[in-house]
Amino acid sequence: MNEQITLEVLRYRPEESSKQIYQSYDVPFKKEWVILDALNYIKDELDGTLSYRWSCRMGVCGSCGMMVNGEPVLSCASFLETFHPGPIRIEPLENFPVVRDLVSEMSDFMEKLERVQPWLIRKDEDPPEGEYLQTPSQLMDYKNYSMCINCMLCYSACPVYGLEPSFLGPAAIALGQRYNLDSRDQGEKIRNAVLSEDDGIWQCTLVGECSAVCPKDVDPAAAIQRLKVSTTVDFFKSFLMPWQNR
Ligand code: SF4
Ligand code: FES
Repeated sequence: MNEQITLEVLRYRPEESSKQIYQSYDVPFKKEWVILDALNYIKDELDGTLSYRWSCRMGVCGSCGMMVNGEPVLSCASFLETFHPGPIRIEPLENFPVVRDLVSEMSDFMEKLERVQPWLIRKDEDPPEGEYLQTPSQLMDYKNYSMCINCMLCYSACPVYGLEPSFLGPAAIALGQRYNLDSRDQGEKIRNAVLSEDDGIWQCTLVGECSAVCPKDVDPAAAIQRLKVSTTVDFFKSFLMPWQNR
């Protein structure tokens, strides 16, 4: 008989019970399979009631995040082989309300993302004809932070967000910094006013787990520390050179 591996999946079906329970499934152990393949096997062959999110299957859409053996990962980028011989514990992302099985509620992040205004802010009322030009080195200033796929692994790994859900959180701050560093943008002051509020960058205690789990090497921890430095410099400049505030 072909080798099997056991997945212990945390289930939550509110129409049946308010309790979460682990349910075990034996799936074929194939070296080329990722966790998402195993979940798709369960859904197709064993239990069609299992709910989870996924779309691209290639680490791009950011929708397949979940806890695997206690770590937040993209299930489409985590091979079964890594967890051999199992059993493998699969749970919904930590720090988010659960809607059903492995599906989490993400609207808190969407509201926070909107607060940091992750788009180009310009002062010119009429945009010039053509494009806003940018050099390759200006692009490199923010490119890292633009790689975020909104997968929420960093929020799941962040102990500050776990204790204090009002914290803006790693990805929203990194995406705010992405636009602050964009040479075409003129909205840094507006954004920094939000990022420096009580639930912003100063809540971060530099644990660094956000950057450790990020599948895209966005390094939100670095974005937060850079913002702490730049907003502090701006604060002192506003006293020493008040004419710049105009
Ligand atoms: S910063 Fe990284 S871990 Fe956080 S949402 Fe973006 S891609 Fe995911
Ligand atoms: S399915 Fe899109 S990132 Fe995993």
